Amino acid sequence: MKHRFPEDFLWGGAIAANQVEGAYATDGKGLSTSDLTPQGVFGPIVERTANSSSIKDIAIDFYHRYPQDIALFAEMGFTVLRLSIGWTRIFPNGDEKTPNEAGLAFYDRLFDELAKYGIQPLVTLSHYEMPYALVKNEGGWGSRKTIEYFEHYARTVFRRYRDKVKYWLTFNEINMSLHEPFTGVGLPRDSSRQQIYQAIHHQLVASARAVKACHEIIPDARIGNMLLGSILYPLSCKPADVMESLHQNREWQFFGDVQVRGAYPAYMQRFFAEQNIALSVTDQDREDLKATVDFVSFSYYMSGCVTADKAQADALKARGNILDMVPNPHLDSSEWGWQIDPEGLRYLLNVLYDRYQKPLFIVENGLGARDVPEADGTINDDYRIQYLNSHLLQVAEALKDGVEIWGYTSWAPIDMVSASKAEMSKRYGFIYVDRDDTGNGSLARRRKKSFSWYAGVIKSRGDTLK
Ligand code: BG6
Repeated sequence: MKHRFPEDFLWGGAIAANQVEGAYATDGKGLSTSDLTPQGVFGPIVERTANSSSIKDIAIDFYHRYPQDIALFAEMGFTVLRLSIGWTRIFPNGDEKTPNEAGLAFYDRLFDELAKYGIQPLVTLSHYEMPYALVKNEGGWGSRKTIEYFEHYARTVFRRYRDKVKYWLTFNEINMSLHEPFTGVGLPRDSSRQQIYQAIHHQLVASARAVKACHEIIPDARIGNMLLGSILYPLSCKPADVMESLHQNREWQFFGDVQVRGAYPAYMQRFFAEQNIALSVTDQDREDLKATVDFVSFSYYMSGCVTADKAQADALKARGNILDMVPNPHLDSSEWGWQIDPEGLRYLLNVLYDRYQKPLFIVENGLGARDVPEADGTINDDYRIQYLNSHLLQVAEALKDGVEIWGYTSWAPIDMVSASKAEMSKRYGFIYVDRDDTGNGSLARRRKKSFSWYAGVIKSRGDTLK
């Protein structure tokens, strides 16, 4: 027994409403910010008209096909499925008093389906989308009023699903607003740092209020935050590069520091002063922020480097997922230029555990690749198996290091529309979905080679990893 994971370790996959569900205007759903980025998070923001469309309008039609997909997840032995609730299915414009019953009923059916197989839902309240009406009418998270609307939404779903959902997350990759303010906090892309940090402040308060509400309404539930966890190594051992890596890692760690410790960390005072940022923070905000998360969750795909030499950094930077990073000369990259670093996952798990002493949950990790079916229709995605195998081995090492890890949900159990560029061809799944970048295809599902591999890993609790 080389790599036995704990018996209660949760195994599964992670999906997001706007990347899988489709049905973008069905059963009373309102427009979300994601419906306005048909070319993905980094693409243009396009107002919807009668003629406009997006590949996400149908996505992989999970809205109608979830029973079939969940049966396949169960076949792999999943004990957890991370998914998000589309806020605009529940509150189409965000500011309604009464929720949309058809939207609530959809997630009831979904959770009931998971329960049939004993799969725990791990639910993200807001995964890269918010009601577009709140952006247009209120200025997104730039407005304090959005805190109230979000809290009302959170309380509504906590009350409704209190017996069905025991694991919750507030905002997906909350630190990404620094890189993409429209998707993160519903602000225009040319917003100032002052505006972005003020909106982030409101979102952090809203996250804490959701934590408090969750503890009140579902005392036996656990609620966590969700960070885009990219480790930035110093490019060299020059002290200036090491100091630069401290600063740049704090850019994302700041979010976790507030959500876990319940107050702004000391180092932000100097940062705000030097950036001429003056936040409006009320006494009530300070009080609200004291409601801290029960566990820390994060995504991990890659690592990168930083250097204090700005000219060198600019010359070397490759566009990664969301962060601009200097490539590491010692690592290989995926087809999309994301640098593959399994040991970085063990490193990150240790860093986060040392920093917070909170249980951790890896809620995204996987390889986006162009799968080409063989003539007989099989998909031999050995590269994906290799990626996941090497990362899970490092999770096993971190467990041996003494890090408390509750579970692992790979991104993604099934092919879906990619977030950054809204492509179908960047595939992550154990399950292949017949749909291409232009929307052609039958949407039929097929098991890839990695499907039985992952089932074997789960069944043996990691013992088949090599
Ligand atoms: C994370 C997001 O940043 O990365 C997911 O939380 C996303 O929504 C994932 O899908 C992978 O990114 P992409 O662009 O390859 O889909």
